[in-house]
Amino acid sequence: MKRSVIDILDLSVDELNGLMDTAEDIIANPDDYADSCRRKKLATLFFEPSTRTRMSFEAAMYELGGNVLSMTDAASSSASKGESVADTARVISCYADIIAMRHPKEGAALVAANNATIPVINAGDGGHCHPTQTLADLLTIRREKGSFSGLTVGLCGDLKFGRTVHSLINALSRYDGVRYVLISPEELKLPSYVKEEAIKPRGIPYEQTESLEDAMPSLDVLYMTRVQKERFFNEEDYLRLKDSYILDPAKMALGRQDLIVMHPLPRVNEISVAVDRDPRACYFKQVLNGKYMRMSLILKLLEEAAS
Ligand code: NCD
Repeated sequence: MKRSVIDILDLSVDELNGLMDTAEDIIANPDDYADSCRRKKLATLFFEPSTRTRMSFEAAMYELGGNVLSMTDAASSSASKGESVADTARVISCYADIIAMRHPKEGAALVAANNATIPVINAGDGGHCHPTQTLADLLTIRREKGSFSGLTVGLCGDLKFGRTVHSLINALSRYDGVRYVLISPEELKLPSYVKEEAIKPRGIPYEQTESLEDAMPSLDVLYMTRVQKERFFNEEDYLRLKDSYILDPAKMALGRQDLIVMHPLPRVNEISVAVDRDPRACYFKQVLNGKYMRMSLILKLLEEAAS
């Protein structure tokens, strides 16, 4: 049965764990998967800039032995002639077996999924969701920390517009024993709907602070984010807020020895390059984990679609 993944909540905790287990198996035995998607095609439809997410999907499909059809520039596609997302999804369904789509509008991936006859994976819809980044994040935390239980997770930066943060909180909140420290300027606080839906009903402990320094000593995981320039209504606000937090070696010195630092990338100024040498920096491992989790998800959805 055809099934799409638009929101991380479309996957149960058992399924998330299963996807991580498959990713571990792919890491251990890549040759076993080299022909798993032979003669299958992934279409990547990116209506918004992306390097790593699109290439990660494409690398994932190639490593599964499949092929890729790629739309990288909305300006040169039929969208610029006024074609609707619904029609694009129906058309691409005639060419490919699975779609990965990124779009600046919240809800666009759902519209595509409702109109496509093949599975659609949301690769980011506006400030809403980014489920495959969350898959990368979960595998990174599980590989580095062993489990999710008992972790204090600091999320820092643009918690308002950062879709990776919203998806990650939705996912992690379903594991027992997690607590959050939400670190942001007043204007970029986590939207209340995320708190009301994911954090409060489960009684998950959380703190809000503007100070990264104060938060550092208590954290097991620090998830840094970029201030989302493209979602601001005026340049002035962006310029005022863009350098609110810069993680540097002096701040790292306040963190625990077993802290892990994550970032969905691209980084702008939030993490100084000097931190890259610190063994606690995990953001490049996160990139690699993202490819394995996308392989795992593509496999699962294509298998389900065939059954
Ligand atoms: C993130 C995104 O697109 O939301 N990037 C990514 O997919 N790795 C984070 C960001 O753009 O800041």
